[in-house]
Amino acid sequence: MFDVRRIREDFPIFKRHVNGRELIYFDNAATTHKPVQVINAITNFYRNHNANVHRGFHTLSQEASELFEEAHEIVARFINAYSWDEVIQVSNTTEGINLVAYTWGLRNVKEGDEIILTVMDHHSNMLPWRRLAELVGARIKYVDITDDGLLNYSQLNELITERTKIIAFPMMSNVLGTMNDIKKIVKSAHSVGAIAVADGAQWVPHAPTNVRELGIDFLAFSGHKMLGPTGVGILWGRKDLLEDLEPFKCGGETIKDVTLEGVVWHDLPWRFEAGTPNIAGMIGLGEAVKYLESIGIESILSHERSLVSYTMKKLGELEDDVEVYGSKDLSVRGGIVSFNVKGLHHHTVGKALDVFGIAVRTGGHCAHPLHYRLGINGTVRASYYLYNTLEEIDEFVRALRTIISLRDKLAKEPVEEVCTGG
Ligand code: ALA
Repeated sequence: MFDVRRIREDFPIFKRHVNGRELIYFDNAATTHKPVQVINAITNFYRNHNANVHRGFHTLSQEASELFEEAHEIVARFINAYSWDEVIQVSNTTEGINLVAYTWGLRNVKEGDEIILTVMDHHSNMLPWRRLAELVGARIKYVDITDDGLLNYSQLNELITERTKIIAFPMMSNVLGTMNDIKKIVKSAHSVGAIAVADGAQWVPHAPTNVRELGIDFLAFSGHKMLGPTGVGILWGRKDLLEDLEPFKCGGETIKDVTLEGVVWHDLPWRFEAGTPNIAGMIGLGEAVKYLESIGIESILSHERSLVSYTMKKLGELEDDVEVYGSKDLSVRGGIVSFNVKGLHHHTVGKALDVFGIAVRTGGHCAHPLHYRLGINGTVRASYYLYNTLEEIDEFVRALRTIISLRDKLAKEPVEEVCTGG
């Protein structure tokens, strides 16, 4: 049974108070908190096993290598990869996408070819492809959204041509919460021989991911958004595609042999894991995946959907004062609600919520083109995870009501136009 009270006991951060209040953490799309099991796995590695991997026959190095490789296997199982060696440890989603752009992309995309992106993409799944297009002389096309915040699939089918080589898309929007129809996108890509590259940063932590069933060709996601540590992410790729590629970064670990004249690249995945990897980070991510599996990813999604449904109902009561973005059909949404309080800057609302101990993200959320498409320059975003509760949403809505009641005063406060990581 999904027991949110019991789950919260595993997260030491919830003992924290912020501005004299119990912390309410609604910034999970930016990063999530870590259960004690993950923290312990990392400290256990440093306390008891610390050594470099694949570089020695001494006991500690063997133990470190085993733990590190086991973490690849745990992640492979979680996404139903065909084999563990398709799982490449990178630093984050951004690096995973850059890896595909600079390896598969540079090899296969030629002048005059096309890359299809979406207006709801995160900058990390937009800028690497634009850079690739500039380097080779390819053309970028964007799939728009509908008024309901869904991808415009009929436009996608109009945009795609025999010159399309890549469709790169977010599995779930980090602003609208829209969960895209991945199989539909993959079908379009494969109909013209293009590859489908999935940005799973917001999806993989929250919803079942089965790369075999989805039919995608590459998938990137970040450990820190799924209870793991920062600085570790995953690129999964179809083995036949990966095997054909040379390293993105080269150096130690990527080779089987080097002479003064040449190099023999290593097997997968080591060919793509240059230098000493984030060993403790990968072990922590493996532990995070085990934790998510012990709760059940379907249960987590259904818990988050009940939180979103409740939020929409409560914000609906404030509809004269609050504008909410994204689809009203909750079956196509994950645990994200972005909104604005009419007459107040998003940063003002975020700062005011912090006074109540409530953490949200405000700004363009690394998705500026999507905000411009919506005719705004930022939003307030509440993003949920397995440890959030309906009671926290009640507190949050109470705080919003207070903020609305103080709107005239707050509207006069200067707004710091800080860049919030956009
Ligand atoms: N990509 C993260 C977010 O959407 C940082 O907040």
